[in-house]
Amino acid sequence: MKAVTWHGRRDVRVEEVPDPILKEPNDAIVRITSSGLCGSDLHLYETLGPFMGEGDILGHEPMGIVEEVGPETGGLSVGDRVVMPFQICCGHCWMCNQGLHTQCETTQVRDQGMGAALFGFSKLYGEVPGAQAEFLRVPEAQFMPIKVPEGPPDERFLFLSDVLPTAWQSVAYADVPEGGTLLVLGLGPIGDMASRIALLQGKRVIGVDLVPERLARVKARGAEVIDLSVVDDVGEEVRSLTGGRGADAVVDAVGMEAHGSPVAEMGQRIFNVLPKRITAPLMNKVGLDRMAAIYTAIDAVRRGGTVSLIGVYGGQSDPMPMLTLFDKQIQLRMGQANIKRWVDEIMPLLLDDADPLGTEGFATHQVSLDDAPAAYQNFQKKQDGTVKVVFKPGS
Ligand SMILES: NC(=O)c1ccc[n+]([C@@H]2O[C@H](COP(=O)([O-])OP(=O)(O)OC[C@H]3O[C@@H](n4cnc5c(N)ncnc54)[C@H](O)[C@@H]3O)[C@@H](O)[C@H]2O)c1
Ligand SMILES: [Zn+2]
Ligand SMILES: [Zn+2]
Repeated sequence: MKAVTWHGRRDVRVEEVPDPILKEPNDAIVRITSSGLCGSDLHLYETLGPFMGEGDILGHEPMGIVEEVGPETGGLSVGDRVVMPFQICCGHCWMCNQGLHTQCETTQVRDQGMGAALFGFSKLYGEVPGAQAEFLRVPEAQFMPIKVPEGPPDERFLFLSDVLPTAWQSVAYADVPEGGTLLVLGLGPIGDMASRIALLQGKRVIGVDLVPERLARVKARGAEVIDLSVVDDVGEEVRSLTGGRGADAVVDAVGMEAHGSPVAEMGQRIFNVLPKRITAPLMNKVGLDRMAAIYTAIDAVRRGGTVSLIGVYGGQSDPMPMLTLFDKQIQLRMGQANIKRWVDEIMPLLLDDADPLGTEGFATHQVSLDDAPAAYQNFQKKQDGTVKVVFKPGS
């Protein structure tokens, strides 16, 4: 089959690789019809190279049609239309029973000290072959696939794999009080969707980014926006919009590719010239910190407010501003999204043909797998109006 594979920093290729096969009795094989490109893939593309293997298949936002099932896949049938969560989880362990599917005790990557395995996401997360491919082996298929009805186009349901529940969790964790203000840092797919969800819930939303079309998309849905390319003190600007107090809650949907961390960029350049066997343990220990957005969040949130981190961070070397966190009584909540925890709450919005979250028009680019190298580049550089790319294997 054809698949998108990793070969080095900013080097993804489209290659022929062996088709996946059933390995465990609870595996299924899914023929992929749509597969998202995510800001998390950009971490692999740019910063997390030391944890990647040459030829690893990328991608973790899949949907498609069940092609083959093992004998222990419960009610799953060949021909079912399904969306898979980006994390691999069993649905019956203690953590899954708490709704903490990203900590699944059946799939935790213990030799790396990490939580649940993820599709297409480096050795840290089990080096499981990813979903930007024509076919995908789905482990734990008695639980993983989310069955969706025939009818609406893929895009109505595809974002259940990551964007929708991730954005939903970020807003739930932000816990904005009635009549309160949510500041959303970063208006990529995650911040954009988090803004839509909070607006739908009747909150006041202020979004921050520096890419004109991303600001425009969120503004068009009713949010106020701050353009980081003209405003350099976001905290001050937010306080001036909130009676001097700051936002009740902040969602940081930026993560470690944050713009505006020259020190981290230099650190990254150093990592890039050292051999992998040195950099992987080093990055694991001291980390790679690009904390610009977190600092903005801590500054812009009001005293006693909540910061909800949904952007992914990998660093451990910069000390957090503990004095300020403590003095301002800030509540910090974070983590990978527990996809299955939120599906039942989101599904009614997707089955509503008015499409209140605008999922059908959410992707800006639908492309074939062959276009992956250009799509990764355009998404990273924010070129060609790229906000959300969906690959259409088989097209
Ligand atoms: N926790 C989870 O489960 C989960 C799931 C999916 C994605 N993510 C993470 O969410 C983050 C966003 O993903 P995405 O797909 O929207 O990616 P993205 O890279 O398209 O979005 C990031 C946005 O932040 C903007 N930005 C950069 N620096 C900024 C700054 N200092 N202040 C404000 N905005 C800034 C960029 O212009 C960009 O629009 C990534 O870190 C990704 O890994 C987490
Ligand atoms: Zn994703
Ligand atoms: Zn589990």
